[in-house]
Formats: sequence, structure tokens, C-alpha cells
Amino acid sequence: MGKLEGKVAVITGGSSGLALASARRFVEEGAYVFITGRKQETLDEAVELIGRNVTGIRGDAANLDDLDRLFDTVKRVKGRIDILYASAGMGEAVPLGEITEQHFDATFGLNARGTLFTVQKALPLLNDGGSIFMTGSVASVKGFPGFSVYAASKATLLAFARGWLNELKGRKIRVNVLSPGPIATPMQDQVLTEEAKRMFESLIPRGTMGRPEEIAAAAVFLASDDSSFVNGMELAVDGGLSAI
Ligand SMILES: NC(=O)c1ccc[n+]([C@@H]2O[C@H](COP(=O)([O-])OP(=O)(O)OC[C@H]3O[C@@H](n4cnc5c(N)ncnc54)[C@H](OP(=O)(O)O)[C@@H]3O)[C@@H](O)[C@H]2O)c1
Repeated sequence: MGKLEGKVAVITGGSSGLALASARRFVEEGAYVFITGRKQETLDEAVELIGRNVTGIRGDAANLDDLDRLFDTVKRVKGRIDILYASAGMGEAVPLGEITEQHFDATFGLNARGTLFTVQKALPLLNDGGSIFMTGSVASVKGFPGFSVYAASKATLLAFARGWLNELKGRKIRVNVLSPGPIATPMQDQVLTEEAKRMFESLIPRGTMGRPEEIAAAAVFLASDDSSFVNGMELAVDGGLSAI
């Protein structure tokens, strides 16, 4: 019997990268998953890859109308949510001095505002005893040059988690943050040069990037009853990068 047998999970940004790896593991563990992303083609490929017990819903997690459509569909198809994994996020390297309003608004608009409304709009469907977790980043506790806006947007998530778990304690809903270190995903290829990748690898004790499957293992832990006494925490899955 899987660790997520019979559970219903919603994973934003689940059509690629570390959240897609998590969606695959969730299904292997017995869950039904709804995944989202903006590009229909990527979403279709992900649904095909996962193969069963999955619905792909196109939408932008920064857009409140799209979030309404997402949860309307979840309500119609399954009527409830046990696990909410708010993972859609973005980051670009922009150093202080070159930060634009557009960069700030887009980054906070998805990573902070979009995550907040994802959680808020999911609440009516969330079962008592459910698990919410959000994708943070090791960047939020390190001073990586160029990533201050991204880091700040991800740092908001732990503050959200602390307040929300207290507000939701009557419903026994747990709220955590899963903070990956550098993980080899399509996003990384877009955001980092080869030189930057080598630099990040040199900061990781084992000398290699994380794999999406290593994040998926931690996501199963936070989604399942194995983490029943873990609440309001930031779980760093970064190979030790943030510890040294
Ligand atoms: N990779 C790393 O090293 C790393 C480290 C720390 C934290 N993170 C965080 O981990 C999360 C996933 O990153 P990843 O590396 O796995 O990226 P990825 O491979 O590029 O996947 C990102 C996923 O999110 C979707 N997405 C992007 N913007 C979206 C939006 N506005 N609304 C809905 N879906 C959206 C993408 O699909 P569409 O493009 O089709 O929308 C895709 O499915 C992000 O929150 C990122 O900040 C990544």
C-alpha cells in the first residue's frame, strides 16, 4: 500500500521539473493528482508521462481567474483536496542597480502573491487534516548575487506558513515549506549559465546538483502522515548547501 493511497493532490507547476517528479511519485504512492502549467503542450506531455490518475489543467498560478478555474475543476472531478503543493515559481538573475518594477512585480506576483491565492482559493476544498506545502528555495537563506528579489519572494513563504498553520490549527491542516537547493531541471537551464551551474555545484558538499527525484522523496514525506508532527517548518533539501 502506498503512502498516499486514495489522497487527492493539487500540484501547481507540476508539468515540469521537480514538481513533475513529485507528481509521478504521488501517483506511484496511490494518489490522484491535478497538475498545472501555462503551456498546454508541456502539460499534455506530463500527463502522458504520468500515465494514470492525473488531470492536467492549463493556467497561470499568478492569475486569480485561472486559479478559480483550477479549483472549480478539482471540485467537479474529485470534490476535495488532501494535499496542496504550491510549486509554481519563477526566478531570474537581476543584480541590484538593474532591478525593474516588472522584475519585482512578476517575481512577487507569482512566487508570493500567486502562492498566497493558490492556498486561499484551495481552502474550501481542503480536507481537515490536510497537508499544504510550498516550494521555497535555498536562495532565501543565502546571499546569492543577482537573486535578491527571488530570495525575498521565497522568504515570504515561511512567514505565510507560520501564520496560516496557526489560523488552520482547528482544522488540523499542516503548512510547510520545501526548500530545494540547486536541482537539475529545465528551469535551471533557462536561468543559469554553465559557469553559474559549476559555481553552485562547488558550493554543494557532494559536488553535484540535486535530482528532481530527490525533491519528490521529500515531497512524499511532507504530503504523507510520515510528517504528521512537522508543521511550520522549512525543509531544506539542498545537499547541505545552506548548512555550510
Ligand atoms: N531548479 C532549482 O534549482 C530550484 C531551486 C530552488 C527552488 N526552485 C523552485 O522550484 C519550483 C520549480 O522549479 P523547476 O526548476 O522544477 O522549474 P521548471 O522545470 O521550469 O518547471 C516549472 C513548472 O512550473 C510551471 N510554471 C511556471 N510558471 C507558472 C505559472 N505562472 N503558473 C503555473 N505554472 C507555472 C511550468 O510550466 P509552464 O512554463 O508551462 O507554465 C513548469 O511546469 C519553482 O518554484 C522554483 O523557484 C527550483
